[in-house]
Amino acid sequence: MLAFIAFALSFIVTSVHAANWYTVEWNGATFTAMSGDMIVPRLPQAGGTPYVWPGVQSGNGVLQAVLDGRSGVWWIGDGFYGTPSLPWGNGFNVNPGDMVHFSFTCSGTVWTCTLSSSGKSATTTLNVTGNTMNRAIFAAELTNVPFNFGPITYTNVKITSTTAASA
Ligand SMILES: *[C@@H]1O[C@H](CO)[C@@H](O)[C@H](O)[C@H]1NC(C)=O
Repeated sequence: MLAFIAFALSFIVTSVHAANWYTVEWNGATFTAMSGDMIVPRLPQAGGTPYVWPGVQSGNGVLQAVLDGRSGVWWIGDGFYGTPSLPWGNGFNVNPGDMVHFSFTCSGTVWTCTLSSSGKSATTTLNVTGNTMNRAIFAAELTNVPFNFGPITYTNVKITSTTAASA
């Protein structure tokens, strides 16, 4: 199954005291690839932990292309967070308004993750054993950061799964 999607996440939250999640998800299938273009949003105010990411997830962890604004600039890099514990992958700095192409593909347990934007690129290969990716997810994961820097826009999204998603 292959779905072509374009959408934007946009919310306004005025008061945030702990991690807040905003997601668009497809569930109930085995996801084997995902790709698309993310337009880098404005940088949130300093002081919190803003993570914005597309990814595929299992019961054991999540393979993600994380746009990380903790240090006051945006950095995007691929990694797997969960079990097995694997070293974080490669990435680069990006600016608001940049378009970043991301892709996740797998061959058996080995996932290849690529990122590219304006001549910059990064590839990360991860052997993610013991994980069946049953969720495709686009998330804003915000700790002490209000979601007032959207929209986070994705275009040309392709989600590949072995069966239709049930939800
Ligand atoms: C992935 O890890 C498993 C478990 O350690 C190992 O058996 C397998 O050979 C690895 N695959 C590759 C392609 O490295």
